[in-house]
Amino acid sequence: MADVKGHRWFAATYDRLTASGERGFMATIRAEVAGGAQGRVLEIGAGTGANFSHYTSLAEHVTAVEPDPYMYRRAERHAAEAARHIELQQASAEDLPFADESFDTVVSTLVLCSVSDPEKSLSEVVRVLKHGGQLRFYEHIRSSNPVSARFQDIALPVWRWFAAGCHCNRDTVTTIRESGLEVAEVAYSTPVPPVPPFILVRPHVKGIAIRG
Ligand SMILES: C[S@@+](CC[C@H](N)C(=O)[O-])C[C@H]1O[C@@H](n2cnc3c(N)ncnc32)[C@H](O)[C@@H]1O
Repeated sequence: MADVKGHRWFAATYDRLTASGERGFMATIRAEVAGGAQGRVLEIGAGTGANFSHYTSLAEHVTAVEPDPYMYRRAERHAAEAARHIELQQASAEDLPFADESFDTVVSTLVLCSVSDPEKSLSEVVRVLKHGGQLRFYEHIRSSNPVSARFQDIALPVWRWFAAGCHCNRDTVTTIRESGLEVAEVAYSTPVPPVPPFILVRPHVKGIAIRG
């Protein structure tokens, strides 16, 4: 993997910034998205490891990748504290160091907004998934309201700086569909209020996409 500079302050404050959302709606979301992961599981962009405690016995083996060295160190600590073994590797979603068709499930929560190249990342997800395997995702996406979407476009440079490269305006469900995965389940929600800065990261989407 190319040397990644990382976002020291974003990583240092991430768990504190997200704590109230984690105690609220995110705990349920993680229990559904990670908790339903089966077989050999790959989590991309694991961050500080917020999903690690949500994997169940359905997941035979969990591998997690995270490219940012500061996030990675925090994920290592959470992995060491987790009740189950989590194998961690420092890698990007665009260049997954795994053989073709090696996972039953890929988990992505709040990651496809941050990757440099969503199309390449999803082509890697398709490559490493077995036929019939699932991408289980939860992401914030581009607004379907044209005025709000335009606002997201205008705010993008500032938001990317503030949120360590996150894109507030990506039409991620379309990108997942265009990757060749079949979107089998999709549910939209607006769990954060329509006030700054949350207004930029609405709506959210939870779903399952299958490799045919
Ligand atoms: C908003 S955080 C989400 C972290 C975690 N998935 C969660 O649910 O809390 C976005 C994460 O994506 C990671 N990321 C950024 N670019 C990436 C890439 N190209 N491949 C994989 N992960 C990436 C970031 O380092 C960060 O940890």
